[in-house]
Amino acid sequence: VFGVRCLVLSGGRGTRLRPLTFSLAKQLVPVANRPILGWVLDRVAEVGVRDVGVVVAPDTGWAVREFVGDGGEWGFRVEYIVQEPLGLAHAVKVARRFLGDDDFLMCLGDNLLGSSIRGFVDRFEGEGLDGLILLKEVEDPRRFGVAVLDGEGRVVRLVEKPSEPPSNLALVGVYVFSRRVHEAVDRIRPSWRGELEITDAIQEMINMGCRVGAEVLDSWWIDTGKKDDVLTANAVVLDEYVVRDVRGEVVGSRVEGRVRVEEGARVVDSVVRGPCVIGRGCVVENSFIGPYTSVGDGSRIVNSSVEYCVIMEGSVVENVERLEESLVGRNARVARRGGRGVVRLHVGDYSEVEV
Ligand code: G1P
Repeated sequence: VFGVRCLVLSGGRGTRLRPLTFSLAKQLVPVANRPILGWVLDRVAEVGVRDVGVVVAPDTGWAVREFVGDGGEWGFRVEYIVQEPLGLAHAVKVARRFLGDDDFLMCLGDNLLGSSIRGFVDRFEGEGLDGLILLKEVEDPRRFGVAVLDGEGRVVRLVEKPSEPPSNLALVGVYVFSRRVHEAVDRIRPSWRGELEITDAIQEMINMGCRVGAEVLDSWWIDTGKKDDVLTANAVVLDEYVVRDVRGEVVGSRVEGRVRVEEGARVVDSVVRGPCVIGRGCVVENSFIGPYTSVGDGSRIVNSSVEYCVIMEGSVVENVERLEESLVGRNARVARRGGRGVVRLHVGDYSEVEV
C-alpha cells in the first residue's frame, strides 16, 4: 500500500465559475447530482491511502467539511487545513505539518479522471522518484501548466500557462512527491498571478537534480474550471455511471433509457430521455428532459424543454421553450413570462445570460 498520505486541494477562489462560486466552493459544484469532489475522493480511495488532508479556503471551507465529514464514506481519515488562496505550492507549504517527511499524493479537487491512478502511484514507489506528474495532450495548452519531455520521456522543462506553449502536454492535477518538494517550495517566488505555483516548484526540483518522472494519461481528463467544463464533466459522468433506476412516481410519461429518478420525485405528462438524473422531490411536468441533464433535489421543471444542462437544487424552470447547455445555480428561477421578445432579468454579479 502506498505511503499513507494524500493532499486534496479544495480551496481557491473559483473566479472562472462565478457567480456560483460566490457562495459555493468550486469543488462542490455537482455533476450527476454529486459534488465534483466526491468523484475525486473516489479516485483517492482506490489508491488505498489512510490519511487525507483536505485543504479548504476560509470562506467556503465549512461546506466542504459538511460534505466530506470524517471521510468515513471513503474509508480514510480526514484532517482539514485552512489556506488563503495563494497557490498550489502554497497549499503544500501550509500542509507541511500534516505531511511531515512522508511521500504523498496530491490531487486537485476539481479535476476528474477517467481511470484509476493506482498504477501511477505504484510507479512512483517502484522507481524511487522524487516527483511524478501526470500529463494529457490538450487543444489549448495556454490554460494549463505545460511540460516538455525529451526523447526518453524525461521531464526537461515546465511552464505555467505559457502564452506560446512549448508542447501540447498539460499538467493534470495529480502529482506524487517525496519530501524534497518542500525544499523546492521554499525556494520559489510568487508568479505573475501572485501565487506560488506547483509547476514552478517541480521545475525547481528538476534544477535541484531531483528525479522527476512523467506519465501521459490515456483516459479522459476534465478540469472543471469553467461552465462548459462542468457541462462536459456532467455528460461524461452521466454516461459512465448512471444506470436505470426509477424510484419516483411516473404518471402519463415516457422515461427512456438510463434515467435515475430519485425517491419523492414526480414526473407527470413528460418525456425524460437518458442519460440523466432527476433528484429527490423534483417535479417535472409537461416537459422534456433531454440527454445529459442533471436536475438537483427539489427542483421544478414545468412546461419546458431542458437538454445538456446542470440544474442545481431547489431551482425552477418554467415555460422555457428550450434551455440548452446551461448551468443553473441553487434556488434560481428561469421562466418566460409576457410576450415574445420581452426579457426580464434579476441576475447576480458576473452572471452570463444568452437569449
Ligand atoms: C492548476 C495548475 C496547472 C494545471 C491545472 C490543472 O491551474 O496551476 O499547472 O495544469 O491546475 O487543472 P489553475 O486551475 O490553478 O489555474
